[in-house]
Amino acid sequence: MREHDVIIVGGGLAGCRAALEIKRIDPTIDVALIAKTHPIRSHSVAAQGGIAAALKNVDPNDDWKAHAFDTIKGSDYLADQDAVAILTQSAPEVIIELEQMGVLFSRLENGKIAQRAFGGHSHNRTCYAADKTGHAILHELVSNLRRYGVHIYEEWYIMQLILEEGEAKGVVMYHIRDGEIDTMRGKAVMFATGGYGRVFNTTSNDYASTGDGLAMSAFAGVPLEDMEFVQFHPTGLYPVGVLISEAVRGEGAYLINSEGKRFMEDYAPSRMELAPRDITSRAITLEIRAGRGVHLDGSPGGPFVYLDLRHMGKEKIMSRIPFCWEEAHRLVGIDAVYEPMPVRPTVHYCMGGIPVNTDGQVRLSADSLVTGFFSAGECACVSVHGANRLGSNSLLECVVYGRRTGRTIAQYVIDRKLPDFDSQKYVNSARQRVEDLLNHQGTVRIAKLRQEFQDCMTYHCGVFRTQETMQEGINQINNLKAQYDNIYLDDKGGCWNTELIEALELQCIMAVGDIILTSALNRKESRGAHCREDFSTRDDGNFLQHTLAYYSPQGIDIKLMPVVVDLFEPQERKY
Ligand code: FUM
Repeated sequence: MREHDVIIVGGGLAGCRAALEIKRIDPTIDVALIAKTHPIRSHSVAAQGGIAAALKNVDPNDDWKAHAFDTIKGSDYLADQDAVAILTQSAPEVIIELEQMGVLFSRLENGKIAQRAFGGHSHNRTCYAADKTGHAILHELVSNLRRYGVHIYEEWYIMQLILEEGEAKGVVMYHIRDGEIDTMRGKAVMFATGGYGRVFNTTSNDYASTGDGLAMSAFAGVPLEDMEFVQFHPTGLYPVGVLISEAVRGEGAYLINSEGKRFMEDYAPSRMELAPRDITSRAITLEIRAGRGVHLDGSPGGPFVYLDLRHMGKEKIMSRIPFCWEEAHRLVGIDAVYEPMPVRPTVHYCMGGIPVNTDGQVRLSADSLVTGFFSAGECACVSVHGANRLGSNSLLECVVYGRRTGRTIAQYVIDRKLPDFDSQKYVNSARQRVEDLLNHQGTVRIAKLRQEFQDCMTYHCGVFRTQETMQEGINQINNLKAQYDNIYLDDKGGCWNTELIEALELQCIMAVGDIILTSALNRKESRGAHCREDFSTRDDGNFLQHTLAYYSPQGIDIKLMPVVVDLFEPQERKY
């Protein structure tokens, strides 16, 4: 068994920022950071458009309260307002800290950090590094981790969270390189494992975003909060689904339909292309449904709309959003200086997650906590995004709540002893699980089953939802889950067995999908990204509440938890 004072699972922005904070507070605390990939390949590296903060570099009338209001309105009033206040008040400070660490932000003529417009934000407050902001921040954080002596375990897959008698004690880990299985114990365990885009068939997320931390928390008896709120980013490049940043619209691009019309004037006239993502994704879907989408040959009635940058000119495109230009050029052969890009909504972000309080401590219920268990970043739900996240608030959440959770952990481990558990029992059971998968004599390939599951989720739990389609989705999921008992793996080895990892990930994908659909069926209203055609309005009387979904193989139990409303009373949401 390995041991460290603190175990952080996940090498993205939230995990790295927490690790750094712990080491800055007390360099003698022994911190391990475990990641399924190399940390700089974590999905945070793919974040493009920016990170929000009321720095007032472009707009002197901005302030944290305006940022908080935009965030809460954007969330369709489901965000916990105390958590949003912390997020937006801390924002300017964490950006300056990043700058001092060496992050290379884009600059204004006067040398200050540049800030651009973003969807749902009433002021230009999104700081950026061209359209590679996540890359700029993550690289700097990871170099700092090395300087502070954080012990990095890269390419280890976590198989289980060890949670006994209400206390998180450690993890069971599998080394992808050579198949070694071991346990690690720690005084504190933090999950910063990212999102679950790969539960769906079209996503902007990388292949590693399979919801592992969410599923492992659920398997250990921890509830998952607000999982029905799946963010569709309006501009996924068609057909691949990769992200074309909102920064492209922030810099002035138009959305146009097959008739050449800027159709957002019919859906959000005051914000146009910079409406929040739930509204813009619905607008695109409705245009496509109404036959005003476009085919690849340019004829009407097709599966995408156009993102038109041509009026912006080459110089602006190449200096502000060079990566988005490159993606379209490389992946679908479009030169966006001269031709519009084909786009449609793509699954992008998980608003829900492992429930935490504002200190990053994981909740077991509305009024109790799990001892020694912490979480931050996309896999956590604190909840600052409620039913719909505003673009450029997620990098901010990772940095603010990563830092905050790091501070909590640094305090928490003082005078705590390492926990005890029967390591051999966990290792034996993990070995048995791996052996069973390798030796299984079925007929179904993992890749086929995963594809069918992803197709089912996309069809039955998309931008628009109904009782009937979601119930049908649950029935299909149950069928697909039964087929897991009939899988087989070609690769029987222990060295870089990616098929085995995919088999383990598929268990997570299936559980997370089930929780998303069950939570969505229970919420009989439309709010933010959860849009039901059979319950088309928001129902604050019954549903101004967070969902807590408790998973067990026998079924999912849903409970509700109150929302913190202490700054702004809920109003009708119009743009
Ligand atoms: O569109 C984007 O660049 C994405 C940003 C975000 O999700 O915050």
